[in-house]
Amino acid sequence: MSLASRLALVTGGGTGIGRAVCQQLAREGASVAVAGNNLSDCEETVSTIRAESGSFDASFHPVEVDVSDSHQVSRLFSSIASKFTGGPQLSAVVNAAGITRDKNLLKMTEQAYDEVIKINLKGTFLVSQAAARLMVEHSVTNGSIVNIASITGKLGNFGQANYSASKGGVMSMTLTFARELGRHGIRCNAILPGFISTQMTDAIPEPVREQIKQFVSLGRFGRPEEVAELVAFLASDRSSYITGSLIDINGGLSY
Ligand SMILES: NC(=O)c1ccc[n+]([C@@H]2O[C@H](COP(=O)([O-])OP(=O)(O)OC[C@H]3O[C@@H](n4cnc5c(N)ncnc54)[C@H](O)[C@@H]3O)[C@@H](O)[C@H]2O)c1
Repeated sequence: MSLASRLALVTGGGTGIGRAVCQQLAREGASVAVAGNNLSDCEETVSTIRAESGSFDASFHPVEVDVSDSHQVSRLFSSIASKFTGGPQLSAVVNAAGITRDKNLLKMTEQAYDEVIKINLKGTFLVSQAAARLMVEHSVTNGSIVNIASITGKLGNFGQANYSASKGGVMSMTLTFARELGRHGIRCNAILPGFISTQMTDAIPEPVREQIKQFVSLGRFGRPEEVAELVAFLASDRSSYITGSLIDINGGLSY
């Protein structure tokens, strides 16, 4: 139970990779604030955790937030503080909230560009800043921030000028966070998933999915649980000497 007595916040925790991360962190003993822009999804995540085992010695808090809105992010942290009063301090944060609004550059609207940057990049900034301030204030010395970037931040992708830019931004922001926060005992890393089976990639038409698999050494999309294993490792003290790292998890993808 490498995360026993730890409190974690996971954005985008209502579905997909974020949900799998919440479940894995809970398995490893953490209390988890499950945050997302759809409260019922977050509540469902908590239900799945409780269904797996009723005997967790930890608590779980579903909470609604739009990570791109600084007022809502402030309210998120107030809500976590009141829910977990007297419990462990927040020491792990996973930024998994994200969206796509794909279109070829020639057709992409300004609105689609702005929405993606606002949620994926600014949202990661706002949540990480609030969390880091709290960890420094409470002298947390084993803090960990894990940002879910994407292989597209490194390679780009058709139809994803906005998304690739947002994830490239998350990657460079992660490197800066690591430099600035290391002296406070807070680590910050980003993971770069390739194609993982979630509602986000369910939107890809089947023939295109089959084409993509040809570029993956393992010949398949990843599972959210496989990503969650890496995130839990980075959130825990098992990775105590890893910071400022951008880690691929893509089944051997090259295109
Ligand atoms: N699935 C993949 O292949 C893949 C690959 C690389 C990176 N990622 C990244 O992984 C993360 C999780 O994606 P996923 O694949 O699980 O898809 P998903 O759509 O299941 O998860 C995204 C989550 O973000 C939440 N969200 C969206 N806008 C929000 C907002 N404004 N405020 C708070 N929450 C918001 C959604 O409610 C949803 O729960 C995303 O950042 C995504 O960009 C996914």
